[in-house]
Amino acid sequence: MNNQTARLIELLQLEKKEKRTNNAKVISVASGKGGTGKTFFASNFAYSLSKEGKKILLIDFDFNLSNLNIVLNQKSENALSEFFEQKKSIEEIIQLYSQNLHLIYGDSGNEFFPKLSKEIIDYFFVSLNKITSQYDFIVIDSAAGANELTLRQLINSDFLILITTPEPTAIMDAYVLTKLLISENFSIQKFVVVNKCTSKDEGENSFQNLSAACKHFLNDEPTKLGTISFDILVHQSIVNQELLIENSSESKAANEIIDISKKFIEFAQVANNNQSKISR
Ligand SMILES: Nc1ncnc2c1ncn2[C@@H]1O[C@H](COP(=O)(O)OP(=O)(O)O)[C@@H](O)[C@H]1O
Ligand SMILES: [Mg+2]
Repeated sequence: MNNQTARLIELLQLEKKEKRTNNAKVISVASGKGGTGKTFFASNFAYSLSKEGKKILLIDFDFNLSNLNIVLNQKSENALSEFFEQKKSIEEIIQLYSQNLHLIYGDSGNEFFPKLSKEIIDYFFVSLNKITSQYDFIVIDSAAGANELTLRQLINSDFLILITTPEPTAIMDAYVLTKLLISENFSIQKFVVVNKCTSKDEGENSFQNLSAACKHFLNDEPTKLGTISFDILVHQSIVNQELLIENSSESKAANEIIDISKKFIEFAQVANNNQSKISR
């Protein structure tokens, strides 16, 4: 990154601080473990928020293993790599799914995908700031794991939605991701969704286990956003390349995601009110 870009980041970051309360909030959907349902959740959650009248930008940050275009059955016309290579502006890589739901797709198996650094991730978020006034929420689907790029993405976000499943391995990985974020000395509002639950009790117990470990060892408790049932219609919706909420809106998992979206809007409103009070 040259000096001019570094200066631009500095200036835009100053601007970001001033405008923050009116801008879209950035929500990262992440998990330690792979296959917990991040892409399924992020896409259906973003769609559900858009149906609640919110203007949403959904971004695929699973660099070079992008899945969102498959799930949404859309041809990706532009990809993030073109922004990272400075060939296109952020506005130029946005695609429409519907009036209220816009997308930035990732790449898939691009052998020339540029090597990313923490500074380039920061640059992406600073550039994103130019368009945040057009949206209510920016939802980011993440890669699995806790590498330094994912941590940098989370540090640049306003909210983290941790997706875990009831399996102890997934809970452990969600705990580790939380621990790494805290060790970076960064406090972000954390929510938990327990996906693929075989019963409400299983979801509740899983959340309690994760929450107790976070409280005991990290002195930091996440907020429960909800549980999502294991539902064969989820599998079916992915095979059919349809959004569950759009095409099987009566299914149990779809209704649970709609409830989670409504609950999230309330939490975000409270957080926004508190922030406005502080900045006044
Ligand atoms: N609630 C659910 N019920 C049944 N299957 C699910 C559920 N959530 C996700 N899946 C399945 O889990 C797999 C992984 O989901 P995906 O969203 O790709 O995970 P990730 O993005 O975290 O790697 C998919 O094949 C999907 O069908
Ligand atoms: Mg995924």
